[in-house]
Amino acid sequence: MGKIIAITNQKGGVGKTTTAINLAASMALNELKVLLVDCDPQGNSTSGVGVAKDNLKYSCYDVLCQGIPANDAIIPTNFEGLFLLPADKNLVAANIDLVDLEEREFRLRDALAAVKNDYQYILIDCPPALDLLNLNSLVAADSIIVPIQCEFFALEGVSQLIDTIQRIREGFQHDLPIEGVLLTMYDDRTNLTRQVANDLRDFFGKQVFETVIPRSVRLAEAPSFGKPVIAYDVRSKGAESYIKLAKEIIANEQAARSASRIG
Ligand SMILES: Nc1ncnc2c1ncn2[C@@H]1O[C@H](COP(=O)(O)OP(=O)(O)O)[C@@H](O)[C@H]1O
Ligand SMILES: [Mg+2]
Repeated sequence: MGKIIAITNQKGGVGKTTTAINLAASMALNELKVLLVDCDPQGNSTSGVGVAKDNLKYSCYDVLCQGIPANDAIIPTNFEGLFLLPADKNLVAANIDLVDLEEREFRLRDALAAVKNDYQYILIDCPPALDLLNLNSLVAADSIIVPIQCEFFALEGVSQLIDTIQRIREGFQHDLPIEGVLLTMYDDRTNLTRQVANDLRDFFGKQVFETVIPRSVRLAEAPSFGKPVIAYDVRSKGAESYIKLAKEIIANEQAARSASRIG
């Protein structure tokens, strides 16, 4: 049974899309079958894995709003083991079109249920907003990864995020555990980064991933070539860090599984 992880933070520019693309690709590198779901109308995850947004047969919009089965919209990418449920510009309308539909918060969950067993991991790239697309992503998810950029205002967004998670937990009777808080664009040469990182580790404790993602030009460049960083420059710090993150998540899941078998 695949695990669905939403990569979420209502703040833009914190590294959600970069994490979705590169974590998905790094998991696929471990010979896992991975589905990347692009739930952001900007479609940066779609173009970031080399898929053109303008002549797709179906996109995430058709799955959410037109009742198209997820399997009909999912396409393979150029990268072994990595599949994509793409976004195109139609997805902009989804927030409006969903309002009048039945079960509007459950559409993604129900659509993914049919393909959940086909993948080991399903990663959802969420939009930078607390809208119906984000809500659908959180309701569909088994857990969430929260990328946080180590900068001055990082902590300000955190309380809003905690409120949202709490609302989902109560409103939908949905557990929604935090898979991990991910420190992104980390630069340990600066005092500010170290200070913010310490504050986040104080606040979230063990929920912060051991792996941090350094600031890396290669990570910013790779999408313009339509490649995950491991296909663009596998020896870069950015590639190394996402490979390490994939290993950490896979190891955590194995540890949780054997703990539940013993307990
Ligand atoms: N670790 C990093 N090092 C350097 N640039 C990064 C890193 N992570 C993200 N970026 C760049 O920062 C910008 C915002 O990242 P993105 O992943 O698109 O954030 P979000 O999806 O949260 O809006 C992009 O231009 C991206 O290439
Ligand atoms: Mg994004």
